[in-house]
Amino acid sequence: MSDKFEQLQGRTVDPHVLRRLWPFLRPHQRWVWIGFGCLLFGLACRLAGPYLVKIAIDDHLNVGEADGYGWIVSLFLVLAVVESLLRRFQQVAVDTGGQSALLDLRLAIFRHLQRLPTRFFDRTPTGKLIGRVTTDVEALNEMFSTGVVTILGDLIFLFATLAILFGLDWQLTLVTLAVVPALLGVTLFIRIRVRAAYVTMRSKLSEMNAYLHEQVSGMPVVQMFNRQESTRAGYGEINQGVRGSQLRTVRWETLLSTFVELLSSFTVALILWYGGGEVASSMGANPSPGERALTLGVLFAFVDYMQKFFQPLNELSLKYTVLQNAMTASRRIFSLLDEDDCLPVPNSPYCPKQVRGELAFEKVSFSYNEGSPVLEEIDFRVTPGERVALVGVTGAGKSTVLKLLTRLYDVSSGCITIDGVDIRDFDLQALRQRVGMVPQDVFLFEGTILDNIRLGKPEVSEAAAIAADTRLHLDKLVDRFPGGWYEPVRERGRNLSAGEKQLISFARVLAAAPEVLVLDEATSNVDSHTEHLLQEAVHEVMQGRTSIAIAHRLSTVRDVDRILVFEKGRVAEQGTHDALMAAEGVYARLVRLQEGLVDTGAGDERA
Ligand SMILES: Nc1ncnc2c1ncn2[C@@H]1O[C@H](COP(=O)(O)OP(=O)(O)O)[C@@H](O)[C@H]1O
Ligand SMILES: [Mg+2]
Repeated sequence: MSDKFEQLQGRTVDPHVLRRLWPFLRPHQRWVWIGFGCLLFGLACRLAGPYLVKIAIDDHLNVGEADGYGWIVSLFLVLAVVESLLRRFQQVAVDTGGQSALLDLRLAIFRHLQRLPTRFFDRTPTGKLIGRVTTDVEALNEMFSTGVVTILGDLIFLFATLAILFGLDWQLTLVTLAVVPALLGVTLFIRIRVRAAYVTMRSKLSEMNAYLHEQVSGMPVVQMFNRQESTRAGYGEINQGVRGSQLRTVRWETLLSTFVELLSSFTVALILWYGGGEVASSMGANPSPGERALTLGVLFAFVDYMQKFFQPLNELSLKYTVLQNAMTASRRIFSLLDEDDCLPVPNSPYCPKQVRGELAFEKVSFSYNEGSPVLEEIDFRVTPGERVALVGVTGAGKSTVLKLLTRLYDVSSGCITIDGVDIRDFDLQALRQRVGMVPQDVFLFEGTILDNIRLGKPEVSEAAAIAADTRLHLDKLVDRFPGGWYEPVRERGRNLSAGEKQLISFARVLAAAPEVLVLDEATSNVDSHTEHLLQEAVHEVMQGRTSIAIAHRLSTVRDVDRILVFEKGRVAEQGTHDALMAAEGVYARLVRLQEGLVDTGAGDERA
């Protein structure tokens, strides 16, 4: 999702976009229809008002006819009350329908995000994605709450008013409409500017969100490195842009409404000037038959209708902006929903309840970015129950191997099989249940330790989960927390040490009891005592399980069945510790290098 995404332009009322919005509104359409019904009846009441006044003036006041005058006044009042009630009902109905549709839309976006592959999240800033679900959906929300859906009503009102005006006095109507070309010209001119300013504003806002997201999540680092001032300057700069573009849209918008208001006053003056003259002459002498008579009542109705005519016209241009926002937002939302870079789903997914755990990588090549291969023709097999360690310098591609095995990414060429079945033919959920991974970067969610451990198998009861983890001696690790299993974990586990987080991440996978276990440097952050506990647990779970562990402390992998040494995306050598030492190759060199170092628990950076 690049910046093409931010700049998506198009027609304000884009049938294509509307067609795609409709499925979300369809289940709630009865609210829309109710709203529309209220709108139409409300409009009728509104249109009747000035006409009643005209009758009151011309047929009663002017000719001194008192009969029925009371009825007209009462009817006027009733219509006014009904109109305001209908207006309220209409807003409630439209809001109910709109909000329900937005709920569905938010869920649809979320569901889609959950389907997207790691590759997508690698290249898309989180802030932008959050913006899709919040700001963009909010723009659609505005469309409902400001009553943009009443645009149709406004248009109907305008045409109905025109029809009535022509019926009352077509000459005066024509004179009045002389202002329309000026109105259309200026409105069009300003609208184009509003639109351009609006598009800039959206992309500036999105930029600001992304920046803010990154800065807030990286706050400790910013503070550690005293980067407050420079990042503040960066934020200030983006904010300047936001302010500028916001101001531009507001300026153009207010200019437009001021202009429409002025034009409305001008039109009233025109009616009074032109119509007033006619009324005076028709009142002076009895008009001869055939000559038209402009009465006082008609003149009043004209002024009233004209003012009512300009109000929706003015709102129309404001609503137009809201509509533009909503269309741009929809376009961005749909281009996210159209993102179909998802992992391909097999026609008849293989969904085993259990696997033996025979793994094979056959000529597997992979690159994150086209043209820079990370793995090249990797070939190896792991027999069921075999314990394999991957070693090699940082960046050699070890973590990538594990990510491919769990299908966070798909291979570029070659294939990976489990029990002889290509993992791309597995049901994705089944695959990830059978292959448990302790990743390099631990991610904990808000909740308790137990919640986090049960993440992979929520169907297991709490007691069963505790029992299983106790068998693996994990209770000894959990005992150190005051709250034990129920110790609260805050966002991302920020109240826990790196080692503790790793332990929980480890327990999480063990609780799910997968047949194949893959560990990415699971022990790099823990003290020797904890590591000892972990090793015990690992030994216990590794029994009879196929396992691949990435290790940086080479001392921990001496007793595995086989060691694969990675170098620049290839398997440079493989064998047992003793065999590899005897071969005097890459592995022997790495071991010597590490033995020269103090046992510092060398992590990724030091290896
Ligand atoms: N998400 C990614 N996007 C692009 N390149 C990546 C990504 N993850 C890792 N790489 C690159 O792939 C190479 C291998 O990474 P990795 O498998 O994590 O190495 P190791 O685990 O052996 O240290 C590195 O050069 C790294 O820069
Ligand atoms: Mg790694």
